Amino acid sequence: MAPKRKAERKSSKSGSTGPTPGSSDAPVVRRVAVLTGGGDCPGLNAVIRALCKTLINKYEVDCYGVEDGFHGLIYRRSHQLDMPQLSGILTLGGTILGSSNKDNPFQHHMTINGKDQVVDVSDECIDYINMMGWGCLVTIGGDGTLTMARQFAEKGINVVAIPKTIDNDLSATDYTFGFHTAVQTAVEAIDRLHTTAMSHHRVQVVEMMGRYAGHLTLEAGIAGGGDIILIPEIPYDLDIICEAVRQRSRRGKRFSIVVVAEGAKPVGGDMVVAKIIKDSPDPLRLGGIGQLIADQICRRTGLEARATVLGHLQRGGTPTAWDRLLSTEFGFKAAELVAAGNFGRMVAQHGNKVVDVSLEEAVQKIKQVDLNDPLIDAARAVGTCFGDRLP
Ligand code: F6P
Repeated sequence: MAPKRKAERKSSKSGSTGPTPGSSDAPVVRRVAVLTGGGDCPGLNAVIRALCKTLINKYEVDCYGVEDGFHGLIYRRSHQLDMPQLSGILTLGGTILGSSNKDNPFQHHMTINGKDQVVDVSDECIDYINMMGWGCLVTIGGDGTLTMARQFAEKGINVVAIPKTIDNDLSATDYTFGFHTAVQTAVEAIDRLHTTAMSHHRVQVVEMMGRYAGHLTLEAGIAGGGDIILIPEIPYDLDIICEAVRQRSRRGKRFSIVVVAEGAKPVGGDMVVAKIIKDSPDPLRLGGIGQLIADQICRRTGLEARATVLGHLQRGGTPTAWDRLLSTEFGFKAAELVAAGNFGRMVAQHGNKVVDVSLEEAVQKIKQVDLNDPLIDAARAVGTCFGDRLP
């Protein structure tokens, strides 16, 4: 739960630190490349700024930006990052480097002799890295990017990774930057939907992102006062949802807010897939559950229902102060790892400390909502329905 830990966060003084410039342990690399992969999120530029400014100012290391994630590594597109480009970007959403959540150098889709083929072009990427004299590749991304980062590390490339995603679904870190901003954005949207739902006595369904994890929906749903919250970790029963809505009507509450994760599914059923992007590391794109639930509630209860999909709004805009702080700490920590030659590591937040973990640990599994999370108990206690039948 982000707010709880917000006031506590302090950088770790333990763990690996960087070398002193000009000392015998001067940085082991002189040129570093950074890329942002996967879906963007607020805070990416703040990380790039902290990483590169630390490397340039403190260690006199040259920094290069690879354009559009692994796409730029495959197609050899990069440029040097100097101070003017790193200035004024702390508050800027998106990524100045561009991103791609499709390109995978280990399974690159290309047309050869008129035929679609999947080719491993990672060796060509490594040739490019060597040609550019990059002693380390810093990857900023979610699980797809991390998996590729680890594959490059296994092939001998010095890699340092920084975790990002609005989904907050990486098991090796308590929080990823971007999540806090996405929660805030979603809560603002839910607040607005609340007032119009009240005016029209409607059931307002709000569909959230998050892939296979319900963190975003749980936190935004509770903070936004959602009456019914549906997350992938708790399969829902439509009868229970409809009964909760009816019960509210009987109590004189003539509207209901249903906050549903794109990955939510009924008991014994499946998630709703919106499309399949075949050349993406994770080809499934979820979406459509919001409208489905709204239609079903309307049909079964006779109440008017509307669905709103928050979609990519949750990934855009300026990062919150909390995300700017986490991004700055992550970027700084990654620079220290690079300067110390501490490769094959991912920056992470554990409790109130910024630490580093092995890339192997970083890619182990996705983190879903812990059903013993006290947030769930607190929400149930104030009457929130999770679409499940309580024992
Ligand atoms: O992983 C971040 C995320 O925004 C997910 O929450 C969502 O399922 C997915 O990316 C959407 O991807 P795209 O940008 O390809 O639509």
